[in-house]
Amino acid sequence: MKPNQIIHGDAMNILPSLKDKSVDLVITDPPFAIDFKARKANYNRKYKNVLEGYNEIPSSEYLEFSLNWIKQIERILKKSGSAYIISGWTNLKDILIAVEKAGFILLNHIIWKYQFGVFTRKKFVTSHYHILLCVKSKDYVFNKIDHYPEDVWAIKREYWHNKLKTPTKLPADLVKKMLLYSSREGDLVLDPFSGSGTVPVCCRQLKRKFLGIEINKDYVNLSHERLRDS
Ligand SMILES: C[S@@+](CC[C@H](N)C(=O)[O-])C[C@H]1O[C@@H](n2cnc3c(N)ncnc32)[C@H](O)[C@@H]1O
Repeated sequence: MKPNQIIHGDAMNILPSLKDKSVDLVITDPPFAIDFKARKANYNRKYKNVLEGYNEIPSSEYLEFSLNWIKQIERILKKSGSAYIISGWTNLKDILIAVEKAGFILLNHIIWKYQFGVFTRKKFVTSHYHILLCVKSKDYVFNKIDHYPEDVWAIKREYWHNKLKTPTKLPADLVKKMLLYSSREGDLVLDPFSGSGTVPVCCRQLKRKFLGIEINKDYVNLSHERLRDS
């Protein structure tokens, strides 16, 4: 598979065609199985700018789904490779089981604290995600940029005024932090659920090669636009 492309299709079908030990780093936030609809009206934004069509997974199938792709990325990563897997708390247990069954070493359990969550009436507002840093061996890459790099990251979500967007776009600062710590220039980075293409765009900006996979054609088109502008 040639690098620097975003493939339109189902990661479950495409991942098996990628070679063993061919990728340096995986950064991905898969669907969370929370019956997420990506409806325009869910967002306090100009609806016309929100792209619909997010592909969600039923929670009853989430463990099997997670096992399937996490085993694949373990096979595809080089021995020195790492994977950052982002998850909400609701189905985190399935991701943790899959990470262990795939044979990964769980190096860090990072908390990403963002600045706002969905308003609630009778419970606390969720304003964090989990990020699992998984490695295959002790030979993993870790560029120690800060003297005291902590595992709680307060990084703001981005506001995209008057621009087309997808509802779950990651902030570039978050993705760039992972790229800078766990890869080198020229490395190949895979995102099997690339959405609006944030991981590929950040890779281009930081001189890493990328491979994205996304099932929603509109999101793939938006990613290509973002890559052209980056
Ligand atoms: C949480 S979003 C990723 C957002 C992305 N990190 C960004 O910054 O835009 C998850 C993406 O996975 C896609 N997806 C769900 N199932 C998929 C599958 N089987 N193969 C490929 N993509 C899939 C969804 O359409 C959605 O765009």
